[in-house]
Amino acid sequence: MLRRPLLAAARSTRCRQLIEHAPFASALIERFVAGQNLAEALPAISALAQDRLVTLDHLGEDVTDAETAEDTVQAYTQLLAELDRTGLAERVEVSVKLSALGQALPQDGERIALANARRICAAAQDAGTTVTLDMEDHTTTDSTLDIHAKLRADYPWVGAVVQSYLRRTEQDCRDLAAAGARVRLCKGAYDEPASVAYRNQQDVDRSYVRCARVLMQGSAYPMIATHDPRLIGITQALAVESGRGLEDFEFQMLYGVRDTEQRRLAAAGNRMRVYVPYGQEWYGYYMRRIAERPANLAFFLRSLVTR
Ligand code: FDA
Repeated sequence: MLRRPLLAAARSTRCRQLIEHAPFASALIERFVAGQNLAEALPAISALAQDRLVTLDHLGEDVTDAETAEDTVQAYTQLLAELDRTGLAERVEVSVKLSALGQALPQDGERIALANARRICAAAQDAGTTVTLDMEDHTTTDSTLDIHAKLRADYPWVGAVVQSYLRRTEQDCRDLAAAGARVRLCKGAYDEPASVAYRNQQDVDRSYVRCARVLMQGSAYPMIATHDPRLIGITQALAVESGRGLEDFEFQMLYGVRDTEQRRLAAAGNRMRVYVPYGQEWYGYYMRRIAERPANLAFFLRSLVTR
């Protein structure tokens, strides 16, 4: 019931200003965000990389001017140089939102985002790691998959994300599996209309299983991004059924969510990757996490009244 208003708040400038500048903000976000800059986040990243793989997100989205998009490219190239310098690049890749690279700019947004993403891919290649393109709301899906295909011509290791709540996703999985792409499968975190998305949780879960089966049986590298214990069990069975070993797919979870389960899966020999966000533009990301789980909302409200 609260998911829709919370997701609307995630995109409201007024709510953003209220919460982002609140004095308790940094204490509030520390469960889900590793730090407000790279220096703050590095200890957490190094600790996680001991037993898990990591994908790092320099927070930012919905950029409306080319200068801010350029700042994002600079942040990622510096991050990749640092991963190279510290030897972390072997276990740490990066996740990038195309809307932070200028995808929505009114003039030539898609071309600018592609050019910016290419520069990040080149820096990742130099550092010896990979890039995954996060997926945003459904109005960007075609453009994001198109940019992903173009990038793969030069950087075949670039990963795409698909969302099982979208009705189109099973077919996208078939296409990506045929292309042999790295594919992160998640349920989807935005508020989407029934015309394009399943609105019922059971339908989203059933779609998740169909998509996972397509990815496991094809030549994709599946990245199973969910905290859902049932889906984790089903995908493990699908991997066995498809003749995949533990090296042939990976699990992914978010920083701050089900840490014990992450460690358990890693200790059992699974490739387990944690999505770690850092940076100052944490508002949209944080609100989507609150929308996902009522218990997180209670934690958020408690923080408001006890400070
Ligand atoms: P679901 O929400 O049904 O939760 C299952 C169980 O997991 C819950 O009962 C609870 O125990 C636990 N749980 C889930 N979320 C929690 C939370 N926030 N706090 C505490 N416990 C929680 N989305 C998108 O649209 N584009 C993208 O690019 C990505 N990228 C991405 C990367 C990775 C690594 C992950 C794990 C997720 C994403 N997502 C995403 C988010 C995804 O679409 C989805 O919103 C969340 O993962 C929550 O869905 P679950 O599959 O975990 O199931």
